[in-house]
Amino acid sequence: MLSYICSFKFKQLALLVIIYALCHFAVQVFFLLSLEETNRVPVLLWWTQFVHINKERVINCPNGEYQCLITTNHSNSADVAAYLFYGSRIENHDFPLPRNYAIPWAILHEESPKNYAPFLYRKTQSIFNITSTFSRYSDFPVTLQYLESVSSLRDSYYYVPVDTKNKYLKDIAPVLYIQSDCDTPINRDYLVKEFGKFINIDSYGKCLTNKMFPKEFYEIYSLDLYNEELLRFIAKYKFIVAFENAICEDYITEKLWRPLIVGSIPIYLGSPTIEDWLPNKNSAILVKNYNSLQEVANLIKKN
Ligand SMILES: *[C@@H]1O[C@H](CO)[C@@H](O)[C@H](O)[C@H]1NC(C)=O
Ligand SMILES: *[C@@H]1O[C@H](CO)[C@@H](O)[C@H](O)[C@H]1NC(C)=O
Repeated sequence: MLSYICSFKFKQLALLVIIYALCHFAVQVFFLLSLEETNRVPVLLWWTQFVHINKERVINCPNGEYQCLITTNHSNSADVAAYLFYGSRIENHDFPLPRNYAIPWAILHEESPKNYAPFLYRKTQSIFNITSTFSRYSDFPVTLQYLESVSSLRDSYYYVPVDTKNKYLKDIAPVLYIQSDCDTPINRDYLVKEFGKFINIDSYGKCLTNKMFPKEFYEIYSLDLYNEELLRFIAKYKFIVAFENAICEDYITEKLWRPLIVGSIPIYLGSPTIEDWLPNKNSAILVKNYNSLQEVANLIKKN
């Protein structure tokens, strides 16, 4: 949830697009369904609430043609044109049943796949008519939600030259690990611990801590993922552990983009289709292409 809040800035935009699209879609369904002439506004009902939207409000689609009421109030079900679900908060026992199949169900699931395990099954996915997820195959994909801009990958604002980084190696490890979620489906901490047997890793954050952050980062590191001072801090490192908390196609987070933005090399484990999204095939060390973490460590030692 924390990592969700901090990336809100980017997701807000994605969410707006999704909501406008849904509104458009819902209005069409609504008018198809309404037999009598009506002035009522179709309702988009967040059945499982999206965290930042709890006030009822009317939105106008950009061309002014449509209006929708967005609400979380379950009593508003008379004019519902679409039910919206927020993937990370779905509960197995909580759906608008019995289902009216004429009213579409729409899901926003941009957070970690680990947040709702039943989505691993196609059957669960197929109960929704409209999807917006990290998967490129969803109706409104948000695969690049954590990447603010392509220019942030191109510019050298945070870049520290390799010569300088090599000098830092007197004081710091070649590899950095910062994580606050220590219990993950991928068993990240176990993997990093194993990796640490072959190469020195500086570990700030809450997991496998062996170094202390400067005080000013205590609060922000898990909340403000792209904080400028934090980025300057991590830019000193040559390599950064970038293991997603779950392995799922197209599930890519700041763990990959942050090192690339600051000019460090991500040691990436996560989406099996990551090559499709990397700026360049040499942008990251892809753990899946090596036989062991020891092999990865040996490669790093040579560089
Ligand atoms: C929910 O909607 C019902 C019916 O429109 C209304 O009476 C009630 O006050 C609303 N509840 C909230 C918390 O807004
Ligand atoms: C939504 O999906 C369900 C299940 O696949 C289907 O039965 C229903 O007709 C669909 N409803 C709409 C409005 O598309």
